[in-house]
Amino acid sequence: MKRIVVVNCSPRVGMNTGTLVREAGKGAEAEGAEVRIFDLYRLDNVHGCMSCFACKLAPNEGKCVYKDGLAEVLAAIREADGAIIGTPNYLGDASAGFRALYERLIFQSLTYKNEPRSYNERRIPILFIMTSNASEAAYLPLGYRKMLGDYEKTLEAFVGPVKVMISGDTLQVKDYSRFDWTMFDPAAKQKRHETVFPEEKKRAYSLGARMVRECRQGQGLFGNGQRPNDGELIGE
Ligand SMILES: Cc1cc2nc3c(=O)[nH]c(=O)nc-3n(C[C@H](O)[C@H](O)[C@H](O)COP(=O)(O)O)c2cc1C
Repeated sequence: MKRIVVVNCSPRVGMNTGTLVREAGKGAEAEGAEVRIFDLYRLDNVHGCMSCFACKLAPNEGKCVYKDGLAEVLAAIREADGAIIGTPNYLGDASAGFRALYERLIFQSLTYKNEPRSYNERRIPILFIMTSNASEAAYLPLGYRKMLGDYEKTLEAFVGPVKVMISGDTLQVKDYSRFDWTMFDPAAKQKRHETVFPEEKKRAYSLGARMVRECRQGQGLFGNGQRPNDGELIGE
């Protein structure tokens, strides 16, 4: 049975990011995977890399040893056949929770040697979902596309092949009338939430299912482990 780890790096469990990663998890489950879900902000004591360098010393090379709430997530990813990770866009970047996971996930694999660059010999596919106020079309002009591309390249180098999914123009709050926010059109946000977001849930579901199918079929996972071209990075 394939094991898939789902990590919601939004503090809000039932909102946009949490919903989409869970849908992807349901897709994985429908293909027979065992799915484990972590809501990062519900874990105790999550820290980024503590710079102890224990992961560069025997017998722990390639393995973060710091014991906090994230240790269980890192251990689960280590055993998993795939990971579904979602984060909201915070100030043009991923959330601080995601950054903590990312620092620990990547840095443990980095050898600081010329060759090999990574301790990680077991590559697993990653579905990386970002949700944001900005629409997907705005990712290029706002520089978000580069930011996502940088995460993608590093995850690809140290963890495995990555598929990016963006859900933009999200419904940020259920009741906009409580706030004096002049930037948004609440009716348009609500309409998008009712018409487009359900389609995005379906897309997340099918990407989760695809991850497991391709794992099972022994295919290269999300495109043979090759770096996807830019066209594939956004949207597809
Ligand atoms: C601290 C904070 C910073 C944010 N910064 C941005 C931003 O720079 N660009 C953007 O498009 N959306 C930004 N947003 C909006 C969220 O990315 C968006 O509402 C997201 O879908 C929230 O995910 P959630 O519903 O899973 O919590 C920000 C929200 C918060 C709370």
